[in-house]
Amino acid sequence: MCYNCPSEPSAEARPGDRPSRRAVARLLMAGAGLSALAACTPASAPEASGTTSAASGTASPGASGEASSPVPSRSGSTSTGASARPSGAASPTASASAASSASASATAPSTTAPTTTAAAAPPSAASRLPKQYSLTAPASPWVIVNKHRPLKPASYVPADLVQPRVALAVTGEAAQLNRTTAAAAERMFAAAAADGVTMTLASGYRSYATQTVTYNGYVSSQGRAAADTASARPGHSEHQTGWAFDIGDGGAACSFQPCFAEQPAAVWAKANAHRFGFVVRYPFMQHTTTGYFYESWHLRYVGAEAATDMRKRGIATLEQYFGLEAAPGYR
Ligand code: DAL
Ligand code: ZN
Repeated sequence: MCYNCPSEPSAEARPGDRPSRRAVARLLMAGAGLSALAACTPASAPEASGTTSAASGTASPGASGEASSPVPSRSGSTSTGASARPSGAASPTASASAASSASASATAPSTTAPTTTAAAAPPSAASRLPKQYSLTAPASPWVIVNKHRPLKPASYVPADLVQPRVALAVTGEAAQLNRTTAAAAERMFAAAAADGVTMTLASGYRSYATQTVTYNGYVSSQGRAAADTASARPGHSEHQTGWAFDIGDGGAACSFQPCFAEQPAAVWAKANAHRFGFVVRYPFMQHTTTGYFYESWHLRYVGAEAATDMRKRGIATLEQYFGLEAAPGYR
């Protein structure tokens, strides 16, 4: 099995980001175990609704629907795998060091990350866009949340959570997104459907409490190091912002699995998501920058202008696009 090995070259990959043979070998060795991790798997197996939901309106952020018992749905060993290995614990209130504006300057990665993948793009590529947004405010479409940049406040709850009119594989809070993301998702899912591609919302908003349950489930089953390659610690997940969600395709076989990358939904999203404002947030072989292995299912809204600009420039990660330091591990 080949974890992190898409059938085609990554559209987002920059020429200089081609992994070295050693890096690939290291990843392959890690793959068997790491494929057992569901990077964004919800706290429980998705509660399949079976039908396309037409739910609408504003839902309470506190609405439940997530089971409380985390069940990482992976098989295999618990290899600690590739190079980006965190050490030490980080509390949800750990301070972020990243810049507070889109003009933040690039800084060198502070870890042992290979330079081939950790090198930052030219600083503030996004600053060429006419509209600028905060990189720190959680309600900003450009907020950067990673292992160096926890949400502030850690207890953040989007004020405008709604349930998008898309095919749902989950219920309750997991079926919610912030209003902007929900509207963009509706457009994207409709376009995918028009192209004959089935796409489902497999995991949307997650509260701090839900992320705690999810992350702790991984730690229990895989150990902390492996958990950190797949699941964000509470207060460090994009899912808590309402700007991110995971897609499925209505089938269970490859959900949250490496093989999802080859499924029509992921192939379509990789090629088209930017038109609706989304990026594949954790691209192939960018774990030394993002801190997570390839998640072909995890989409993040940044707006069509930025997402399209990133794609045109061949910039793979938001860290590189905004000139921020790589965040392979917690500090
Ligand atoms: N799987 C992503 C990193 C999350 O847990 O938010
Ligand atoms: Zn996700």
